[in-house]
Amino acid sequence: MRVLVVGGGGREHALVWKIAQSPLVQRLYAAPGNPGIARHATCVPIAASALDDLVAFARGEGIDLTVVGPEAPLVAGLADRLAGAGLTVFGPSARAAALEGSKAFAKDLMARHGIPTARFRMLDDPAAARRYCREVGPPLVVKADGLAGGKGAIVCRTLGEADAAVAECMERRAFGAAGARVVVEEFLTGEEVSFFALANGRDVLPLAAAQDHKTVFDGDRGPNTGGMGAYSPVAAFDAALEQGVLKAIVWPTVTALAQEDAPYHGVLFVGLMLTREGPKVLEFNCRFGDPECQALVVRAPGDLVPLLLAAARGEAWPVTSPWPPQASVCVTLASGGYPGRYVTGLPIEGVEAAARRPGVHVFHAGTALAGGRLVTAGGRVLAVTALAATLASAIEAAYGAIGEIRFESMHFRSDIGRRRPAA
Ligand code: AMP
Ligand code: GLY
Repeated sequence: MRVLVVGGGGREHALVWKIAQSPLVQRLYAAPGNPGIARHATCVPIAASALDDLVAFARGEGIDLTVVGPEAPLVAGLADRLAGAGLTVFGPSARAAALEGSKAFAKDLMARHGIPTARFRMLDDPAAARRYCREVGPPLVVKADGLAGGKGAIVCRTLGEADAAVAECMERRAFGAAGARVVVEEFLTGEEVSFFALANGRDVLPLAAAQDHKTVFDGDRGPNTGGMGAYSPVAAFDAALEQGVLKAIVWPTVTALAQEDAPYHGVLFVGLMLTREGPKVLEFNCRFGDPECQALVVRAPGDLVPLLLAAARGEAWPVTSPWPPQASVCVTLASGGYPGRYVTGLPIEGVEAAARRPGVHVFHAGTALAGGRLVTAGGRVLAVTALAATLASAIEAAYGAIGEIRFESMHFRSDIGRRRPAA
């Protein structure tokens, strides 16, 4: 078969690396890809946002399966466009992707179907939003309704911060139109877990859980980022919790979307808070997490392609093997200054040496080639991922490999996989 992966970050490198191993795949393309992806796939210079060009390419090349990595093209309707052209696509329709694209849609669906989540209200008037903040009381969370690149959730410790967040979203429009409407919700405490399951429109196939480290500095300090590292499996998320989440959250969500004529085909990423009252949904995403995907993919048993195909086509799940007990860790190497301003174009050394270490994979996130040299091209540059028998040995392998890699101003967290459980 001919497969196209849309995207060009660390998540897509991990997906391409895994898909390339499938005996079902004869030709593998990525749009736009990156220098790491280019080792396993033919990269075509089409941006993930260029929906017309992507559809034309997939038609022209007779692509049998398109796997969409990022959320923005899904929310914009790429899956609908491909399906409309008679093509097979892994990734939900725009209506189903609203689960990520509109927090108001997701919260409303959860409220209607009794799916556990933080108490909330949707507001489209700043004065009403400020009044509701006083009703909930701090700490609370103000969230822009639409896509805001992972920055649209503002945790507010005081009413002053809440008023500032409302002004930022609704009056100053820091997130553009995404902030015209906000969700104000109660603050939940507990351990955060990312759980992943595939859906084929009706049925669910659980994958596994991972834990992200969102803030830029060790000890969960500093501003939020796209993700500074992840590990899998998560000890706090045992088989009983997984069963509970499937029953109370994943199945009801997939069933509700099917009933509402928006069947979900793709991967459902459930951002969970393990509270004292049980797991509650923080957010849904319509894609794999980045860097959670890198940690999952190196652990995943067997061939991923038949599973992606079943999800895309709405077919029964093939027989799968259980996930192995091995642990994986992915550490993000970021540009100095990220998630704020940073420079790009800095030469990167040592990737080959790092990747030669046993159990280690270096996935490219923000890299480019300049005059034949590998250089930095984004905030998150590399995702150094290791698989080993235990979490401790995976951590050791990942950080050992990082010791081989250098670029000016490189920074990373030194505590990935070692987070202290929340009190
Ligand atoms: P979201 O974009 O909704 O996932 O929010 C981003 C991050 O903000 C989450 O990963 C949490 O760390 C935090 N967060 C969001 N909602 C809440 C909440 N209700 N209580 C506590 N933390 C939250
Ligand atoms: N790592 C979190 C996300 O992909 O949203």
